[in-house]
Amino acid sequence: MSTNILVTGAGGQLGSELRYLGEDIRKNKVSLSAGYAFIFADKSRLDITDKGAIESFCSTNSVSYIINCAAFTAVDKAESEADKANAINHLAVKHLAEVAKKHDIAMIHISTDYVFDGDSKQAYKETDITHPNNVYGKTKRLGEQALQDISPPNSIIIRTSWLYSLFGSNFLTTMLRLGPEREQLNVVNDQIGSPTYARDLARAIVQIIPQLKRASQEVEIYHYSNQGQCSWYEFAKAIFVAADIDCRVQPIPSSDYPTSAKRPSHSVLATAKIEQEFGVELSQWPQSMKSCLAHY
Ligand SMILES: NC(=O)c1ccc[n+]([C@@H]2O[C@H](COP(=O)([O-])OP(=O)(O)OC[C@H]3O[C@@H](n4cnc5c(N)ncnc54)[C@H](OP(=O)(O)O)[C@@H]3O)[C@@H](O)[C@H]2O)c1
Repeated sequence: MSTNILVTGAGGQLGSELRYLGEDIRKNKVSLSAGYAFIFADKSRLDITDKGAIESFCSTNSVSYIINCAAFTAVDKAESEADKANAINHLAVKHLAEVAKKHDIAMIHISTDYVFDGDSKQAYKETDITHPNNVYGKTKRLGEQALQDISPPNSIIIRTSWLYSLFGSNFLTTMLRLGPEREQLNVVNDQIGSPTYARDLARAIVQIIPQLKRASQEVEIYHYSNQGQCSWYEFAKAIFVAADIDCRVQPIPSSDYPTSAKRPSHSVLATAKIEQEFGVELSQWPQSMKSCLAHY
């Protein structure tokens, strides 16, 4: 009998990258010990705000692991739709954790660098005090806390940052869309982070799953991002060079690009813990961006 891994939010960018990897695993191009099988559930197949639906989905499909990729990720919209963001990023994580605890399911929950305010100039460690400065970050932090309080067996939280892929709507796909249409784009130069290719994170998750039995009984937090840091302006310039798009990029301060949600100015994550405990290798962000664009 196979060990079933449920991927929630499978229609999003990380979920789509896991689905892509799932195909490679099936064809033995990526190794995951024999016996694991993915079940991909997008919102129409499993709405994680519905606890009864989670309960019956997990029982019917004999789920052993849940990778929770479902989230309300529209950072600005969350400011005006706080209840909805809270229902998905916090209360639904609580539902998942309760079902996971009851049925002995291990959870891999994905969270964000936006749980930090970005006022530190150091890379954030897992033990650093969180202090989100927008609704999205606050609801994601509440989700983390709910999972830690309920503590299903062998479960972990992976915080990541500036996620992109060729799937869905993200900074990279926005640049690829706008760059060819415009002569010049203004991009903020005073927010610093680490762009992370969702496919790299998907591979890391697949590598971590068979090692989860070694994880402690507490729900530990791990930071995962590609290595190196840059501003959005530097990221945009690098995308245009790599994709051979002729568009000038003008650096601007965040004050010239007002948004509903305040963003952290420096949200680089320290990643030593995930590297040491799970043997995960992290590549430099420019290298990962080029490998993403190779599929463009
Ligand atoms: N994107 C980033 O820059 C970033 C950075 C750091 C951390 N993260 C975290 O990484 C994880 C994956 O993010 P992502 O970029 O892959 O997000 P994404 O592309 O927005 O995907 C999230 C998916 O969840 C689905 N969803 C929303 N409500 C749901 C519900 N009630 N039940 C089931 N599915 C639901 C969404 O469907 P609809 O679109 O149809 O609503 C969407 O397909 C999230 O936990 C996010 O917080 C993201």
